[in-house]
This record gives sequence, structure tokens and C-alpha cells, in this order.
Amino acid sequence: MALRRIAKIGEAVLRKKSKVVDEVNDKIRTLIDDMSDTMYEADGVGLAAPQVGILKRVIVVDTGEGLIELVNPVILDASGEQTDEEGCLSVEGESGVVTRPYRVVVEGLDRNGVTRTISANGFMARALCHEIDHLDGILYVDKIEN
Ligand code: NI
Repeated sequence: MALRRIAKIGEAVLRKKSKVVDEVNDKIRTLIDDMSDTMYEADGVGLAAPQVGILKRVIVVDTGEGLIELVNPVILDASGEQTDEEGCLSVEGESGVVTRPYRVVVEGLDRNGVTRTISANGFMARALCHEIDHLDGILYVDKIEN
């Protein structure tokens, strides 16, 4: 188990665009494992690599339905709408109301480099959208409704 430091809002790394992962190798698998350790330790439901200072397109999500690990995730389809409170491990002690798709289909590579397609709705769809936004330097605070 290895915990990594979570970057906080205001740090430049959270605002940069992450690079596509060319090969899912041991280094990426270690990153994935450290990210899930760090997420669980912080009581989070998702974490993106830029949040641990690594500008690579890797996310982990666990909304209580099991751990999802995705490399190079892409939203293939999004439908519906949900509006709810959202928070982020990089924005401590705060939350805001954000509208997201109700349902998404996300494609990415698993830890073995095999393509996986995930259909998610509700909170899991929200978490996936939130983490994928991180890969493009977007934080939920950019989308808060006033
Ligand atoms: Ni976040």
C-alpha cells in the first residue's frame, strides 16, 4: 500500500491536460494501485491521476459498486440529466450543485490493457464524469450552478 499526496485546488497540476497512456505497464499498474489506496484512505469515491500529480489519463472510481480502474477513459455516450451536490478530494470541506448526464457509456483500458466498456447511471455516472473532467484540467467548481 502506498499513499500519494492529493493536490489541492490552486495547484497548477490540476489545471493541465493529461496525456494519453501509450502502454499499460507495471508503472501504470503501480499508479492505479496507489491511486485506489489513496482514494480509500481519504474516503473518496473517485480519483484522477492529476490529483496525485501525474498528468496521465488514469482514473479510479468506487461508488460502492466495486472498484473501476480505467486508463484513457472516453465518454462514448451520455444521456439524461441529474442535478446534485458534488465534492472533490482536491477541494476540501466544500461541495456544490452540479448538473451531469444521468447515464454514460465510458470506454477505456483496464489494468491489463484490455478495452472495457462501462454503462453507468446515477451517482456512478456522476463520478465517472467528474474524474474524466480532471483529465482535462476541469474541476467541479467550474460547473457549480448559482
Ligand atoms: Ni475531484
